Order: sequence, then structure tokens, then C-alpha cells
Amino acid sequence: MTDALATPDAVRSDDLVPHAPRSRDLFAKFDGLIAERHALLQTNVHDPLGVVMEQVLSPTRAIIKGRETILLGTYNYMGMTFDPDVLAAGERALREYGSGTTGSRVLNGTYQTHKACEDALRDFYAMDHAMVFSTGYQANLGMISTLAGKGDYVIIDGDSHASIYDGCWLGDAEIVRFRHNDVADLEKRLRRLPPDAGKLVVLEGVYSMLGDVAPLAEMVAACKRHGAMTLVDEAHAMGFFGVNGRGVFEEAGVEDEVDFVVGTFSKSVGTVGGYCVSNHPKFDVLRFACRPYVFTASLPPSVVATAEASIRKLGGASAKRAHLWKNSRRLHGGLRELGYRLGTETAQSAIIAVMMPDQDRTVATWNALIERGLYVNMARPPATPAGTFLLRCSLCAEHTDAEVEDILRIFGEAGRETGVIG
Ligand SMILES: Cc1ncc(COP(=O)(O)O)c(C=O)c1O
Repeated sequence: MTDALATPDAVRSDDLVPHAPRSRDLFAKFDGLIAERHALLQTNVHDPLGVVMEQVLSPTRAIIKGRETILLGTYNYMGMTFDPDVLAAGERALREYGSGTTGSRVLNGTYQTHKACEDALRDFYAMDHAMVFSTGYQANLGMISTLAGKGDYVIIDGDSHASIYDGCWLGDAEIVRFRHNDVADLEKRLRRLPPDAGKLVVLEGVYSMLGDVAPLAEMVAACKRHGAMTLVDEAHAMGFFGVNGRGVFEEAGVEDEVDFVVGTFSKSVGTVGGYCVSNHPKFDVLRFACRPYVFTASLPPSVVATAEASIRKLGGASAKRAHLWKNSRRLHGGLRELGYRLGTETAQSAIIAVMMPDQDRTVATWNALIERGLYVNMARPPATPAGTFLLRCSLCAEHTDAEVEDILRIFGEAGRETGVIG
């Protein structure tokens, strides 16, 4: 079989069928990407997009290419993936309920485990309603496209996650973008909209590329002034921000003002799944109206049972939160001392983005890190803001002080080797 990603000569599908009419090649638009990937694979570096975790030793260590590697590029912020209570809950549910539900939440796919998980979310957030989706991506897709319909407006930050953009595109509402984290620009755009139109402003607590935090108190106040509902995606803040770990909206003191909070189980919770919580009295109608909730299979019972156990522990995990903040501040300060340019002035979250000068040095430095046993995420346009190239570090509450020092040593050696630092 021809691997078109390994060879630049893409095979046209109609080349394989001799008498087929010559219609436009649907894959032609990917030729640039294929050529770029081919060029990368020719340079003898490890493939940053082809990493395989051959064995996972703990939330912070895995075997990659036969070598023990420190993980600094997972979203396992609170290190729950090997928590004994979480594992036991999953094993129990697997035995009691089987491997999957084989159906939608609104038909045969709601088990006792799904209800218990939604109860845990309601308790964790102290909110009236919780709805579990199969992923966080689907939670945004479903909530945004279902809430905002024809004649309504969705107002989003320019640096929003792909699932927020896709939620807008799936729906029929008008999309309005404001400059990243710019309260004045948000307010200006809200002011221009018809006062009586339905408006949903979608914000994120922590933005995942640079790890910067939204000024939620000011933004939510602006939304209130213009009668807009607010949805805050706390994917990268849940578990870590606020006294109870609810997210930036808790820390900013706007728990009573935000209408919907979206989150994911694939980060601090340590499994997979998504959710939305709310106090809106009509919230439960969404279970019947929201297509990405209705027209897909529900999560396996073992997954929601692990999520429930994890969420119940995260509420009281203040010691872990304190250690994660310590790790984040030490890594931010240490990288700065080494001479790296970082995405934020101070450590704002568990994500620290190392800004790279260009694609070649990004790949070379990523490679120098992995060769020394350190895995970070490589991020590049179009996922990144303003065409930047990043080495994105995300810390875990289970990283020890010694691991953080090791990480800094490796960053020092790698950056000097590739000339990114002096
Ligand atoms: C801000 C944000 N929202 C939603 C998601 C989607 O979450 P999930 O992995 O559960 O689909 C992500 C994933 O990276 C994210 O960063």
C-alpha cells in the first residue's frame, strides 16, 4: 500500500480506476500538508505528531521509543489517571455493567453510573443541572449550536478552541468575534448588536495555547450590561482554579452570574467525556434538543464511574492544587532564567508556553528534548495564535520538585544545542 504521507507523490484516486471520469481530486487541498510532512520525516528527527506511549508508568512518566521519559505535555493536571479509588471504581463498573452501553443517552444509554456522575458534577459545582456528553468537544458543539439559533448571536474570543468555532458553524446564529481577552472590544461589539436579539457570549477560563487567563469578572459584567447569556469553558482550569477547584469563574467570584459552564473529563478528571452544568430552570430540555447529545452513543459505564470518583476527590484536592501552583511558578521562573521567551509574564496556569523563533528551531528543540527524555507538546499554526510556534509545557500535580529541576536542566541543554538560548 502506498503511504502518501511518507512520499510526496500523492496518488489520485482516479489513477486507481482507469476509466473513471477525471473529476477534481478531493485530496488535492492536502498536497501542501503532505509535502510538509514528508520534508519533516526526511530530517531524521523524531516525529512530533507520531509519538507512541509504549508503556505508561505513572501520570508523569512513560516509555517512549524505548526510553523512560518525563511527561510535560499531557493535560493530566491533577494526576488522577492512576488514583487507586478512580481505578477501583472503573474496574467495578466494568465488571457490573459491561464494556459499553451501545446506545444514546435518550434511549438505552443512560445507566445508573451516568446518573451518579451527573450527581457528582452537581455536587462539585453546587448547581442544579448537569449533562454529561461523550467528549468536551461535543459539549461545546451541542451547547452552542442548540442554544443560539437563527436570528441569535454567538460572541466569541478570537482565540477560542476549535470546538467553540465548530459549535458556531454547526448552528444558525450570527458569529461575532472580539479580540483575545479584550474587555473593551467585547463591550464594543455587544453594544452594536440589536438590543432585543438573543446573545450568547462564549469564554474560556484558561486559554490552552498560551496558558493565559481570561478577565472573567470584567467580561461577565459586560455581558450582563448587554443582556447576553454567558457560557464559560473551564476545560483547562477545572480541578486547579478556585477554592473548590471549579475553575476561573469560581476564583473570579462570578459563580452566580455565569449561565453555563462547560468542561471535559479528558484533563484534570483524567479520563474522557464532557459536560455542561447550569442553574437554568429549563436546562433539561436540552437533553432532547441537543443533537451532539442525542445522536451519539453514551460513554462506557467504566468511564463515567472513573469520572465520578475523580470529581468527588477533586473538590477536596487543595494540597494538590497548591503543589501544582508551586510547580508552575518554579518552571516559569526557571525557563525565564535560562533565557526562554514565554507566552505569559508570570505563571498564570498549569500551561507554560515556550515561544519559538521559527518552525525549524521548534522541531529541532522538540527533538533535542525528547532525545533527553522529556516530552512536551509542539504547537504550530493554525492551532496557535498569530502564527506562533510553541513548545507547550503542561504541568501535573504529581511532578515532584526533583522532576521539575530535571525538566529545567534538560531545557537548558536542549536550548543551547539548538541555539534558541545562549
Ligand atoms: C478549551 C477546550 N475545550 C474543549 C476541549 C475538548 O475536550 P475533549 O478532549 O473532551 O473533547 C478542549 C480540548 O483540548 C479544549 O482545550
